[in-house]
Amino acid sequence: MSEKPIFIQHANELITVKGGSETPLTKEAMNELHIIRDGALWLENGEIQAVGTTGELVEMYAGRMSEATVMDARGKIVMPGLVDPHTHLVYAGSRENEFNMRLNGATYMDIMNNGGGIHATTSRTRLASHEELFTESMRRLDSFLKHGVTTVEAKSGYGLDWETEKKQLEVAKRLNDEHVMDVVRTFMGAHAVPGEYKEHPDEFVRIIIEEMIPVVASASLAEFNDVFCERGVFTPEQSRLILEAGKKYGLIPKIHADEIEPYKGAELAAEVGAISADHLLRASDEGIKRMAEEGVIGVLLPGTAFFLMADSARGRKMIDEGVAIALSTDCNPGSSPTTALPFIMNLACMKMGMTPAEAIVATTINAAHAINRAGEIGSLEVGKKADVVVMNVPNYMQLQYHYGMNHTDTVIKSGKIVVE
Ligand code: NIG
Ligand code: FE
Repeated sequence: MSEKPIFIQHANELITVKGGSETPLTKEAMNELHIIRDGALWLENGEIQAVGTTGELVEMYAGRMSEATVMDARGKIVMPGLVDPHTHLVYAGSRENEFNMRLNGATYMDIMNNGGGIHATTSRTRLASHEELFTESMRRLDSFLKHGVTTVEAKSGYGLDWETEKKQLEVAKRLNDEHVMDVVRTFMGAHAVPGEYKEHPDEFVRIIIEEMIPVVASASLAEFNDVFCERGVFTPEQSRLILEAGKKYGLIPKIHADEIEPYKGAELAAEVGAISADHLLRASDEGIKRMAEEGVIGVLLPGTAFFLMADSARGRKMIDEGVAIALSTDCNPGSSPTTALPFIMNLACMKMGMTPAEAIVATTINAAHAINRAGEIGSLEVGKKADVVVMNVPNYMQLQYHYGMNHTDTVIKSGKIVVE
């Protein structure tokens, strides 16, 4: 049975973010939100049917108003559902003990090299049942939705053995099927070298390449293939082999690049034609230039820098040099335990010199590009999915100005009101 149409009228600002569905927005275009004052939307059959001023749409749908659920967005802004293109959604447990250790001087990498960090979550995730993982992750998705997020990417990488990697990806698929949100899957078997291969990391790389990637692809368990390219984790050479192997099977490369140390991860992303390079806290000038040349999207995670008490990525410079930027929470139990994407937008402005408009582009259309969904989501345009958020602020700048707050008022996912 089809849902009732929804008519949203009198939006103080209707932020359409239109015109970036073909290629991600860069440079000045990252500041163009294409705002309609006193804006309106007609949503029906899960899609956006009309976008314009309230006057235009009232005239267009004059004969059908009585069929619709009418929502008044007076004094509020209406924008595309937010997209989070980088999360580690499916995991078990939490690591507040490590947070405490870091506050007392331990570093993220020290903790990981001593068997904590990713290894700690891997142990917990291996032990968790499918059902337990599903329930824990479902709660996180609910929380994302309350922050206005309607689509997330989700990575495996807390299994580091086939059975658990598969379990994580199957849980992510079930979440996509059973939760209203869309969950897009990435295989990240190369998230860490598991303890059992510590002395033979190349053997683990071989297993990923020869045994895991072919099955991930043939069983359609993921669309993307990611690797943590970092000193002490996977070298650029190992990362290249893993990403190239994924490409042969149709998995699109992504990369955790230059997060802790400069390691030529941005350069590698450009070389392998990755759809995105993520983190980039310590990306080199040359790496930034190469990313701009090759059209690699920079997915920046200023919440991770904040939580690791590190300097943020050079977002301003990247935009000025022509890199398309997207933003993400990096939601995970170690370096960014949050689902608050709007706060990440605040941090992007305050710590990376991005403008409020750029932060919106980076969590809508550019984020959609980073997960290959820009044809369907990320802007309010006719024919796109009816993923819409009403924020309880009178103009978009106040989203960043009243920082650290959740302004989400109403969320519509695929044409259904899911948060109100
Ligand atoms: O993106 N850097 C690697 N992976 C995650 C952290 C994972 C964890 O600490 O559990 C990240 O920061
Ligand atoms: Fe990550």
